[in-house]
Amino acid sequence: MTQHDTPLFTGLKKHSAAKPVQFHIPGHKKGTGMDPEFREFIGENILSIDLINIAPLDDLHQPRSLIKDAQDLAAKAFGADYTFFSVQGTSGAIMTMVMSVCGPGDKIIVPRNVHKSVMSAIVFCGAIPIFIHPEVDKELGISHGITPDSVSSALQLHPDAKGVLVINPTYFGVAADLKSIVKISHSYDVPVLVDEAHGVHIHFHDRLPVSAMQAGADMAATSVHKLGGSMTQSSILNVREGLVSAKRVQTILSMLTTTSTSYPLLASLDVARKRLATEGKQLIEKTITLAEKIRTELKEVELISCVGAEIVGTKATFDFDPTKIIISVKELGITGYHAEKWLRETYNIEVELSDLYNILCIITPGDTIKEANILIEAIQSLSKTFRHDDSFVSPHVMLPDIPLLALSPREAFYSETELLPIDQTVGRICAEFIMVYPPGIPIFIPGEIITKDNLTYIHENIEAGLPVQGPEDESLQYLRVIKEHRAIQ
Ligand SMILES: Cc1ncc(COP(=O)(O)O)c(C=O)c1O
Repeated sequence: MTQHDTPLFTGLKKHSAAKPVQFHIPGHKKGTGMDPEFREFIGENILSIDLINIAPLDDLHQPRSLIKDAQDLAAKAFGADYTFFSVQGTSGAIMTMVMSVCGPGDKIIVPRNVHKSVMSAIVFCGAIPIFIHPEVDKELGISHGITPDSVSSALQLHPDAKGVLVINPTYFGVAADLKSIVKISHSYDVPVLVDEAHGVHIHFHDRLPVSAMQAGADMAATSVHKLGGSMTQSSILNVREGLVSAKRVQTILSMLTTTSTSYPLLASLDVARKRLATEGKQLIEKTITLAEKIRTELKEVELISCVGAEIVGTKATFDFDPTKIIISVKELGITGYHAEKWLRETYNIEVELSDLYNILCIITPGDTIKEANILIEAIQSLSKTFRHDDSFVSPHVMLPDIPLLALSPREAFYSETELLPIDQTVGRICAEFIMVYPPGIPIFIPGEIITKDNLTYIHENIEAGLPVQGPEDESLQYLRVIKEHRAIQ
């Protein structure tokens, strides 16, 4: 088999072309048993391969034929020992990584701004997070990655940690010095788990940051659906054996995965891998050229900045993915949120995300010069529309202290809780997640002791107009804390 083959997709097509009489689920039976309007809208082809794990179609939980072949080809393409397909998004792959190395009471070193799936896995398995502060970019008001020095310090203090988790690259395309982080962690025999949600393509072009597998990491949860051309929800988990066991990874992934895995999603992973492996370099080359053209033009727009390779140079900004277009609108006197809304209403443009200072647009092989020109024109027009609005004073992005962890997040999650007026919660143990976005770093996670300083930080952020997210009471009058059981008098 070569990278031009698509064993799973081809096998599914062959199976459906043979028109077997189906007495198995899914009950829509190639769409004939479903709502006709929906069937006509989504089309017969996809419905004909929306099948289930009958013997000829293999089983994601114990792959032996079509799925195994497709996963093996993916492993070759990504330079992994094993690749596992995930139909539970990168979130499922991330939870698998964490739960493959950690059990109750085990330590895991993680950046404070991890995706919520990491914290979910920590709650599920009862691990203890050891947090590292990511570097915050004061200009852009966003957080970057963690540095080799901070990983080294964390491992000196916690050499018994069961894993180091790294987000690489970040949502905004900034990469850490992953090779050095891997080298340091491996000198302690600690595996490196990479959240590669925003980096499936980087493995396929040498002008992009090194991928997790190229850097020698032990596992990487990689969103093929985000930037690699597969369907939403489909991801992969790449594994290098040695410090982690592929068998354990398969067991955990299976525990977290539906038994009714979607074959259209799995097949889309098979074809996305083929395209990345066989045409990825040329496609990404074109994408980088298009993104650079957009960036060059946007840099000329008055009061707009669009950072490029010049962002590289600190210990946390080791490399940069130029296909991420970070458009900073703060000099215009508006927020990124405002710009996002304006672009939607005025130009029918939907951006990837916005925050206080920026909007983020992603450029992929799905874009052409036509979309590029629409974006450039829209940003020029945004600049003209808002340049005289100087009413907005951009608030300062600050960093909260990391409070002491009194209970594991799992213990906190399963404890009895009560809702208290926020100013009466100092010294109590928090039962909720609270964060400010940007920079997306939690102020409290479940299990941490509430400090006066961090409550002040919350009030300052609210006053500055920054969105404080997470608590059950969105108005932040009340906070959920762990109930105290006092002695009966
Ligand atoms: C950094 C990061 N990690 C993980 C994920 C989870 O990926 P998925 O949506 O595929 O579950 C996301 C989603 O946006 C993310 O931004």
